[in-house]
Amino acid sequence: MFLDLDCELCRLCHERTKVVAPSGDLASPVVFVGEAPGEKEDLSGKPFVGRAGRMLDRLLEEEGLPRDSIMITNTVKCRPPGNRRPKADEVLACRLYLEDDLRGKQLIVCMGRTACEGLLNNQVVMRDCANQTFTIALGRERIDLVPTYHPSAALRNLEAREGLRRTIRLVKERFPEL
Ligand code: URA
Repeated sequence: MFLDLDCELCRLCHERTKVVAPSGDLASPVVFVGEAPGEKEDLSGKPFVGRAGRMLDRLLEEEGLPRDSIMITNTVKCRPPGNRRPKADEVLACRLYLEDDLRGKQLIVCMGRTACEGLLNNQVVMRDCANQTFTIALGRERIDLVPTYHPSAALRNLEAREGLRRTIRLVKERFPEL
């Protein structure tokens, strides 16, 4: 991992407390990618430890996929002020770190529009593409990518919750050893 914990590649460095590094099993074949750290993540330096993280933990547990058997990361590693969506130039500045996270993986689970659009280079309508399998090129690698709902959508919306649950189930079916 070459993430620079003192990174100053974009404006998000001015207001963040901590750069949020990936967590879980960094060698896992599966990586879950979110949008950006929120307040709790910014303070702790760990991804998905706030309300959305608790929803993700709950679904992972209910579907029998241990959180420490997968890698969890974000599209941008620093909290955008007021939890606004990261801007395109911030996503681009952080892209080298994200690509480093993804290298060698067999499956990328993109949670929410920001993660999906960053990696598919296309606007997405989640209802149309959730739980379908795409393939992206990363250098010489081809890696499968599954779009799904963000855990914060799953907090508010039953369709999103069941969509994210289905994704976790698909991961468990494909990687029963996890
Ligand atoms: N939302 C995200 O996308 N990532 C986090 O780490 C927390 C909330």
